[in-house]
Amino acid sequence: MARIIAVGNRKGGVGKTTTIIELAKEFSDRDYTVLVVDFDPQGNATHKLLGLELDEDLEEGMSQAMDLFMQPKIGIVDCIYKATDDWPNVHILPSSDTLANLDVLLNGRMGYEKILRNKLTEIESSYDVILIDTGPEINVKTFLAFFASDLVLIPTDLSEDAHNGIYAAYAVLDSLAEHSGRDNISRTILITQSQKEHSKAHKIAKQRLIKDFGSAVIDSFTIPHRAKVRESSWAFTPAISAKTVFNKSKKSQEQFVLSYKKLAETVYGESRSEDN
Ligand SMILES: Nc1ncnc2c1ncn2[C@@H]1O[C@H](COP(=O)(O)OP(=O)(O)OP(=O)(O)O)[C@@H](O)[C@H]1O
Ligand SMILES: [Mg+2]
Repeated sequence: MARIIAVGNRKGGVGKTTTIIELAKEFSDRDYTVLVVDFDPQGNATHKLLGLELDEDLEEGMSQAMDLFMQPKIGIVDCIYKATDDWPNVHILPSSDTLANLDVLLNGRMGYEKILRNKLTEIESSYDVILIDTGPEINVKTFLAFFASDLVLIPTDLSEDAHNGIYAAYAVLDSLAEHSGRDNISRTILITQSQKEHSKAHKIAKQRLIKDFGSAVIDSFTIPHRAKVRESSWAFTPAISAKTVFNKSKKSQEQFVLSYKKLAETVYGESRSEDN
């Protein structure tokens, strides 16, 4: 049975997709079989894993991925693609612009939140880890993604907006517990893009996070800010992870890779929760 992990935070740009990509790389390096579900119409994870130049077949396949959730007859296995050779062991259920329509189509349908989980049940025995990326908003897709997961990982920077974004993710989890009986999804908060860790401002913001969200916050490490990560999204294509970028880079960058290694251990270590 795969361990299923979604990332979510209503705040944009806090490192959700970066976290998915780095975890995929980390698990793939360990020879785990990985499925990335791109549930963000921006398709950032899709483009990282499949490359920027998509052929026609793939474009068509991506819009089919959207039909998957509307037509019970379509099997999920027909919508999954192998990532480029940079990503051995990684498969992807790609996203496209049309995924945005899913919210309107599913809104108000009985039991809509179970749709992704049910689809994943068809293939989860083929994977060790399934990673679900979500976009910078709370919508129907957030409910589907969280319902499907054993763990919701919430990347956050130390801004007030991102802090509020965590509350929004918690509200979804609380609603799923109350209205859908899904009360056993773990929550983990990861501080990303962390700078000046020893500054007073950083310490105060971190304390505030711990005060509000307690032991859900990973206290033992953060993901450091590294300018190269942002630059690499343009400079290196089609698919690249920070690990590859940093291979030829300064030693100081290694902390980034090391932190994601620790994260992989943290999020894979917990045992899988029971289904409802
Ligand atoms: N630790 C980091 N240091 C520096 N830049 C980073 C770091 N993590 C992510 N970034 C950069 O910040 C930008 C936003 O990251 P990312 O796309 O992962 O965020 P996101 O939460 O997925 O955004 P969205 O909400 O739009 O989906 C990207 O350009 C990425 O390269
Ligand atoms: Mg993203």
